Amino acid sequence: MRIPLIAGNWKMYKNRKEACEFAEAFKKIYRDTDIRAAICAPFTQLDDLVKSFAGTGIGVGAQNVHFEEEGAFTGEISASMLEEIGVDYCIVGHSERRQYFGETDKTVNLKLKKLLRSTSITPILCIGEDLRQREEGQEKKVVASQLEKAFSELSAEEAGKLVIAYEPVWAIGTGKTAAPEQAGEMCAWIRKTVENIYDEETCDRVIIQYGGSVKPDNATEIMNMPEIDGALVGGASLSPDQFMEIVNF
Ligand code: 13P
Repeated sequence: MRIPLIAGNWKMYKNRKEACEFAEAFKKIYRDTDIRAAICAPFTQLDDLVKSFAGTGIGVGAQNVHFEEEGAFTGEISASMLEEIGVDYCIVGHSERRQYFGETDKTVNLKLKKLLRSTSITPILCIGEDLRQREEGQEKKVVASQLEKAFSELSAEEAGKLVIAYEPVWAIGTGKTAAPEQAGEMCAWIRKTVENIYDEETCDRVIIQYGGSVKPDNATEIMNMPEIDGALVGGASLSPDQFMEIVNF
């Protein structure tokens, strides 16, 4: 039985005061249901959020991690540093990191291995095609290739623990959502690819989210697609009311 996960990705928004205000407001309206909710925040806000959400069932996630245990890597944060403060999730391979910060399929794979093998943090692996690839009809090939490279040397047991977020780059922050059928078709394709790489049991276990302009007014339609187990929400997760509406879809 897959438990849906709605995760907010705050990106580089909210200072400490704003994050604490969000947490207080969200805790007041959050009702623990059979949907899991989490907020992926900037590093400097994680500790406050973990403390504020303790005992509520609301999860906390980071947006990036380094794949080495420690070392001379100025500006980086390790998986054990995240685990030490009680982080539950970590986004890996978001398209903005691939586009602006040199994230590659190779580093994505190393980060997944690090998180899965040395911490209890659940990775949220982001994949998705860009506009040109969609226009050229390459979306399934692109996504399958991203998955194969991300999964390199991962066991079925490890892969089954992942959350995979299908985020078509052309739908991120543009107000353009993939049609629910388009999103559903791609999430079904992702599950099929996981089955081809591993087996049926593994593909039944992975949580597959859709991300890209998810808002309160389109969340129900998207979440009702059979292969979609949740959402990765950018802009609309900055408002406690909007995010709660999506969690309540
Ligand atoms: P928006 O919901 O703002 O389009 O962002 C999606 C996203 O990138 C979540 O990771």
